[in-house]
Amino acid sequence: MQLFQTKPIEAETDRGLIRSLGAGDLVMLAIGAVIGAGIFSSLGTAAAGEFAADGTMVRAGAGPALILSFVLLGFAVGLAALCYAELASMIPQAGSAYTYTFATMGEFLAWIIGWDLILEYAVGNIAVAVAWSGYFASVLSGFGITMPGWLSHGYLQAKLSQDPAVNGLLESAPQLFGIPVIVNLPAFLIVAAITWVLYLGVRESARANNVMVVVKLLVLGLFVIIGAQHINPDNYTPFAPNGFRGIHQGAAIVFFAYIGFDAVSTAAEETKNPQRNLPIGILGGLAICTLIYVIVGAVAVGLVPYQDLASSDPLAHALSLAGLEKTSWIVAAGAVISLTAVLLVFQFGQPRILFSMAKDGLMPRWAAKIHPKRHVPHITTIGVGLLVALGAMVAEENMIYDLTNIGTLFAFFLVCLAVLVLRIKQPDRPRSFRVPFVWVVAPLGAAACLFIMKGLPRTAWERFGIWLTLGVIAYFAYGYRHSVLRTGKPIETASLD
Ligand code: ALA
Repeated sequence: MQLFQTKPIEAETDRGLIRSLGAGDLVMLAIGAVIGAGIFSSLGTAAAGEFAADGTMVRAGAGPALILSFVLLGFAVGLAALCYAELASMIPQAGSAYTYTFATMGEFLAWIIGWDLILEYAVGNIAVAVAWSGYFASVLSGFGITMPGWLSHGYLQAKLSQDPAVNGLLESAPQLFGIPVIVNLPAFLIVAAITWVLYLGVRESARANNVMVVVKLLVLGLFVIIGAQHINPDNYTPFAPNGFRGIHQGAAIVFFAYIGFDAVSTAAEETKNPQRNLPIGILGGLAICTLIYVIVGAVAVGLVPYQDLASSDPLAHALSLAGLEKTSWIVAAGAVISLTAVLLVFQFGQPRILFSMAKDGLMPRWAAKIHPKRHVPHITTIGVGLLVALGAMVAEENMIYDLTNIGTLFAFFLVCLAVLVLRIKQPDRPRSFRVPFVWVVAPLGAAACLFIMKGLPRTAWERFGIWLTLGVIAYFAYGYRHSVLRTGKPIETASLD
């Protein structure tokens, strides 16, 4: 039973946060946190589907019905985001779903969620870095610079791709001890640069977020306005070439575009009149992002036949195929900036989740160290940076989207359940935000997350199973024995001189 011992929710203290955010600010926060590789990159596979190098279908593409995949996701994510908001409003501590689960369902499940969040943050960033690299190559080609394929793709990309140009790298790349050297150098370098910036202690600011939101909206707006004038209506038929299966499997990969809504809900304590503004902000932000996604998706599948979107820079690629080279370049440049911001947010978040876990004794002590001068968790910042940079150097993006999505959806699922558990166990605990119709919204949210997970390929489930098994082994090998809850010995953060 010790495994399910919960960590008491700390008494609400005045943490000095000021309630200054209105519904409009939350919408801006949502746009800043979520628009990234999902719409700029995973959209391509969601529409076109995926085929193995031998031509067999790995996943069905939604085709133009991608629009419906986005609507389905808007609904599912909305339910889960409301549940996140209730927990965030009653458990005012950093650490996101990890902390909420610890307070409600105990240490073991909390560990599983913390382990799982590595998929959302660190592994997710590998995919963002690969997308970044794809758009960076488009920007360079605008200057007439073409990077050699073996220096701008991951080894697994070359191995798994159906595209003969990428696939052929296995034969044409230089060899080292008989192994073809195929490394995604730009993806490695951007993660290394961001890690360096975070190590120096740079923080995000609301103003930087607003600038990013403007860049994203301008770029996507430009894509829509110019692209819409070159739509070929023939591209919309057949509308759903793979029926509901395509819509479902497309939704399962483009779910990546919605990751980040959980971050918005954590602003509960800083929101004015949260009971009113949080649902408006979350659902309004979701509605706006969904609308943006539907419009961008509709233009993308109208611009070129949906099969042509299979690429890690589908928006720039589609414009270029339509002969709109200049616009393609501008969109690629905007995507590079937008994706840099997404990388920064996730690369900032991961070390702090590990930090929370280390403070509970579930991760080794060094993960709880804070740099005495820079006041950042420097060891985990560098460790996570290395992991992501090396992963990005060899990765294939679809595999990574799948793994990130399944992990995040599982976290969303548990959060929906956690809200119900807490309503039963602690009905009177103050909540500055309560999910309306919780007995409908939370079970429906949990079911919707499971349903979207079901749209992922079998390989994603297998890899997720392996990841969770490793997590269970790690827990019993380390966390179980060192847990602060069990040993009663708090972990020192480090010298904060
Ligand atoms: N939603 C974020 C993105 O699409 C993770 O990049």
